[in-house]
Amino acid sequence: MTAVHKLLPRRVRFDLTHSPLHWIPHDPEASYIINTIHLLLPEGELWFCRVYNKVLPQLPAGKLRDDVQGFIRQEAIHARAHENAMETYLRRHGVEFDSYLKKVDFIFNTLLGDHPTGLPDNFITRRLAKNLEPWWLRQRVGAIAAIEHFTCVFGKWVLEAEALDAPNVDPVLLDLFRWHGAEEVEHRHVAHDLHVAMGGSARERQLWGAVLFPGLMTVLGIGSSHMMNQDAGIARETFVRRWLRCDKNGTLPSIKSMFDASRRYLRNDYHPEAEATLALSLEYFAKSPAVQAALREQLLKNPVAA
Ligand SMILES: [Fe+2]
Ligand SMILES: [Fe+2]
Repeated sequence: MTAVHKLLPRRVRFDLTHSPLHWIPHDPEASYIINTIHLLLPEGELWFCRVYNKVLPQLPAGKLRDDVQGFIRQEAIHARAHENAMETYLRRHGVEFDSYLKKVDFIFNTLLGDHPTGLPDNFITRRLAKNLEPWWLRQRVGAIAAIEHFTCVFGKWVLEAEALDAPNVDPVLLDLFRWHGAEEVEHRHVAHDLHVAMGGSARERQLWGAVLFPGLMTVLGIGSSHMMNQDAGIARETFVRRWLRCDKNGTLPSIKSMFDASRRYLRNDYHPEAEATLALSLEYFAKSPAVQAALREQLLKNPVAA
């Protein structure tokens, strides 16, 4: 099905003016942890776009190039939607997160920036970076492929999580997370296929997975704890204990499912196609209030193209 499916940008908008901080009212901890994922993502997604834009001129016309362009457009909209909506929403609720974003910025823009592992900029490192450029670009696409496995697994979970269908869950935030999750499932194969086309090996992707999965969970734990520690109504607790409680409530993916997903990624026959179906995304787009509003707007602006 993905052989003919075109990745389209959906110009969605979300108004979080009336969304409460504890948007899953019966599980504030899950509210914070899911918010943290979506605070962390824009920095990563803008970095994905910068890396992909460096690869794009090397790609011949065809399906992969179209997919990469579709991926860039979707991720740029994700990053903007989360920055505009999520950051305004958290500031309105008095949550401090700038110090956390500085750490995230260091990971994506320095450690994983154009100079491998953030080497200082001087004559020697510039020469080194030039010589290593094709290799480092491929490594970074390998890193994106590993992160995209995580976003696909989480995206599939958020689309299917029955606990989030509870009537008191904020519908606008839920739509924001489910629209994003659906597009993550929709474009799950692009980074993997690009890395393969660049000559990347399964071993490279597995190494990135082995580094990034625990790394992402650590960064997520630091960010969510930073925000929860500002909330007098939430007891101090370790990230793992919090996740285990959410696991029981069904408000986060189970720890076991996260381990299983990591193990699947380390298999030599892994391919993201097997992780989910495109139909799952398309079903959600057909009922997402934000996606449907964006399509109506597009139809009014350009009835012929739509
Ligand atoms: Fe995304
Ligand atoms: Fe993605």
